Amino acid sequence: MKWSAVVAAFGLSAPAVALLRFGCARLTVQRLDPLVNPGQNPSAHLHQIIGGNSFNVSMDPSKHDLPTLSTCTSCQFSEDFSNYWTAVLFFRARNGTFKRVPQIPQQGMEGTQGGMVVYYMTDALFDTAQKSKVTAFKPGFRMLVGDSSFQNRDQARNYRQLTYTCMENSGTRAPETLEFPKGPCKVGIMANHRFPTCWDGVNLDTPNHRDHVTYPETGTFESGGKCPSTHPVRIPQILLETVWDTRAFNNKADWPADGSQPFVWSSGDKTGYASHADYVFGWKNDSLQKAMDAHTYVSAPTLKTQSIAEQNKCVVSDMVKENIDGWLPKLPGDNMVM
Ligand SMILES: *[C@@H]1O[C@H](CO)[C@@H](O)[C@H](O)[C@H]1NC(C)=O
Ligand SMILES: *[C@@H]1O[C@H](CO)[C@@H](O)[C@H](O)[C@H]1NC(C)=O
Ligand SMILES: *[C@@H]1O[C@H](CO)[C@@H](O)[C@H](O)[C@H]1NC(C)=O
Repeated sequence: MKWSAVVAAFGLSAPAVALLRFGCARLTVQRLDPLVNPGQNPSAHLHQIIGGNSFNVSMDPSKHDLPTLSTCTSCQFSEDFSNYWTAVLFFRARNGTFKRVPQIPQQGMEGTQGGMVVYYMTDALFDTAQKSKVTAFKPGFRMLVGDSSFQNRDQARNYRQLTYTCMENSGTRAPETLEFPKGPCKVGIMANHRFPTCWDGVNLDTPNHRDHVTYPETGTFESGGKCPSTHPVRIPQILLETVWDTRAFNNKADWPADGSQPFVWSSGDKTGYASHADYVFGWKNDSLQKAMDAHTYVSAPTLKTQSIAEQNKCVVSDMVKENIDGWLPKLPGDNMVM
């Protein structure tokens, strides 16, 4: 099946599908990062966060059991209390002020407030058999992909498949670029975050939140590449898709006079190379392992689901209390654009 056909099929059928693909509404948008800057309020830059409402300034893995502490989740699968987050996209006007770019739901998930689409797969996206064995994450597992300090293509190449798609219509999925699209995108910019798929089997986290996971040593996840002996355990491929609704910012007359593109990450990155995403595992009991072992593609019979209205209701209160709306003279945190 081609991408567009997959998208169309998902969009027209019941949204509950596996290889797991599910929508999550925004849980909150705040300058917090309990993985990289635990205990720090505010953290360095603004994030958009989805998942369970136990998300907090600190989430010490020895004390913070997400499924126990959460009372709701913004995700369609109601046993997923994990948290997932990325930076936030801003438009920078010619006069130097910034405006937060809204997010739009994908086809078939209309009505979802902000948020992302999350995938967990055991094999390449197009492989409807999804028959390979993967080991689901354990309580306390966390990881970070990408680097908010990256500024060039060579650095960005350290991470596979952190990309952008310039959406001409709601089904556009190709091509993917490592940098922000150079021209206006009719429907929006999709940011794609694919996490590494090989785990060392021992550490739930590491000081840089990266070293316990890596990529296949040959080939790719999609080609069934083997995990290296240092990281022998094959974990599900997590993919996050965020659609940034750039439609209000597509007037070229508002774009920089030098012809460059006007979007920046909340970290100040105007290249797109600093794309990054964080994951804190929080599925209830063995619900994720069971779903992966079911090897289904267009249904998730083992999982409980909730409505979009219920997803939208799950929010976390504002703990930072800074204005992030309207035209802002600076990025939250006063991050320099570079
Ligand atoms: C966040 O942590 C603080 C301090 O431990 C606690 O008082 C508060 O209830 C927590 N918030 C949520 C949403 O769990
Ligand atoms: C800056 O530019 C934006 C977009 O053109 C406009 O809406 C806003 O009012 C301007 N702000 C100032 C302070 O000029
Ligand atoms: C599920 O996990 C919770 C803690 O997160 C635990 O209290 C409960 O006993 C577990 N239930 C089962 C059926 O294992």
